[in-house]
Amino acid sequence: MMRQPIITVMGHVDHGKTSLLDYIRSSTIVLKEAGAITQSIGASSVPLDVIQKLCGPLLERFKLKFTIPGLLFIDTPGHEAFTNLRRRGGSVADIAIVVIDITQGVQPQTKEAIDLLRSFKVPFIVAANKIDLITGWKSHSPVHIDNFQKQIQLTKEQFEKRFYQLVGQLGQLGFDSDMYNKVDDYAKRLSIVPISAKTGEGIAELLALVAGLAQKYLEDGLKIEVEGPAKGNVLEIKEERGLGITADVILYDGSLRVNDIILVAGIDKVIKTKVKALLRPLPLVEMRAAGRKFEPVTEVHAATGVKIVAPEMENAIAGSPIVSVVDEKKAQEKGEELLKEIEAITLSVTTPGIILKTDALGSLEALSSLLNKKSIPIQRLDIGPINKQDVSQAAANAEKSPLNTFVLGFNVPVDEDARELANKSSVTIIDEKVIYHLIEKLEKAIELKKSEQEKAELLGLVWPAKFRIIPGFVFRQTKPAVFGVEVMAGKLFPRVEFLTADGREIGFVKSIETEGEKLESLEAGRQAALSVDGVTIGRQLKEGDVLYTAISEEHFRKLKAKRNLLKKAELEVMKEIADIKRKEKPTWGL
Ligand code: GTP
Ligand code: MG
Repeated sequence: MMRQPIITVMGHVDHGKTSLLDYIRSSTIVLKEAGAITQSIGASSVPLDVIQKLCGPLLERFKLKFTIPGLLFIDTPGHEAFTNLRRRGGSVADIAIVVIDITQGVQPQTKEAIDLLRSFKVPFIVAANKIDLITGWKSHSPVHIDNFQKQIQLTKEQFEKRFYQLVGQLGQLGFDSDMYNKVDDYAKRLSIVPISAKTGEGIAELLALVAGLAQKYLEDGLKIEVEGPAKGNVLEIKEERGLGITADVILYDGSLRVNDIILVAGIDKVIKTKVKALLRPLPLVEMRAAGRKFEPVTEVHAATGVKIVAPEMENAIAGSPIVSVVDEKKAQEKGEELLKEIEAITLSVTTPGIILKTDALGSLEALSSLLNKKSIPIQRLDIGPINKQDVSQAAANAEKSPLNTFVLGFNVPVDEDARELANKSSVTIIDEKVIYHLIEKLEKAIELKKSEQEKAELLGLVWPAKFRIIPGFVFRQTKPAVFGVEVMAGKLFPRVEFLTADGREIGFVKSIETEGEKLESLEAGRQAALSVDGVTIGRQLKEGDVLYTAISEEHFRKLKAKRNLLKKAELEVMKEIADIKRKEKPTWGL
């Protein structure tokens, strides 16, 4: 029997991969996706009758007759963070479609996709998308080669300019490419099909070409032992409401049944488990879309996307091969092969760090690599909702590592008691549905924490203050001396030593009081009574004397490093203090 060829759609961010599949599926994934960015791999099966309907009149014109049972499409994300998902998508592909926005040409992730396909030896076709954006472009016919003829001369020229620019760029990557109807040997030359995912122009041609190629070149490869053991690849491990942790798998060979024994690579060992349930996406429906779009089945045959529910799946690695085994001896052999795959894990953790929770392994990997690049440490990463435990783990960092008191959630719910605990502690929960917003918010929150932390550090330093003993307000000569002062500049705090204008370090401010009340600080321009140890008024000090807080050299340097947080007058006081000190030691504070 012949299975459905697996067609992976790849390309740079926003070049229109999801829109193309959308058009084919006539569904509205683009509109439903948060931020309209594809954040995980989905698979959707398009049955033969749909393809035949879409290709319509072309079948006769190009004398096509399809024998394949349909096409299985895999969408991949274009953003640079998702290399792993692209690699997975590329590795299971029989044929790929590289979507290139014709107004933008080859971009970094276009190159990356092409490199991946080359390394996996996957044949591909280029879909030059968004031709409707070419100046003056009109949509008269859904078939591109016909529609082109109906454009005015100027528009034709615009198109050709763009088209040959693209051919040139592909040439630089080592490909001899041309308009698909001018290519006679598909194995030697690269076909370009101009399309518009918006108007649908060219999509029939693209589908006909893909189906035709699959049939012509892959026929042998597509013949499968329907009754043989299952072989597939895990695209995603994700939590599904009511089902727990599940594995989204692309099955490319054999059959899988409920109660079959399967082997899959786990985080530190090979997992051997039993299929509890198989869920299949309904035709024309995106596999990862939630709700009633799955139907439980007792068996599936390649090629198909299938969601597997089985114990221990929470420890499986996305990207791992998955196989079903018939006997114990085979299980041993296959297990060893799988062990090799385990090396591929890219997740790493360090303590202390932030806590990261996401909905799927794909997003966990993408986020962990983005955070790594930004040197933000991760202490624990996991799939599932944010719970109380996550918050208390982050709270434990509050004392020693306040920059690691964040719990990040991507596309996951937050438990009520987790929120409550976060509100009571210094933990911040950041949850978002778009990865880039999540990172942005985290960076802002870290900046804020940093500046708070700096301020707190500064508060531990002796603050610059210049103050004067008000004549006529000496209430007590000594033990302790009590006298009125006015702060001339800076801010005076209790429990500091002070020095005289001629550099003598003589007293200690025990407390600041006004009208019988103790003050925690005294601002410039304000007056209050100081209670001071270590001096006798009339001996070391006299009325009218100007005094300065005794800032040590170490504190002085720390203050200088944070000079942007000090007022101008405070910096001036510091300068005066330094001048006094340098009379004795010229290098003081430098
Ligand atoms: P990622 O999944 O983030 O890599 O993007 P993508 O390649 O799947 O792109 P997507 O389909 O989300 O489209 C990106 C934007 O381009 C959307 O605003 C689409 O409406 C728009 N777009 C896609 N195809 C076309 C097209 O043929 N013509 C025009 N005018 N706009 C298009
Ligand atoms: Mg997309």
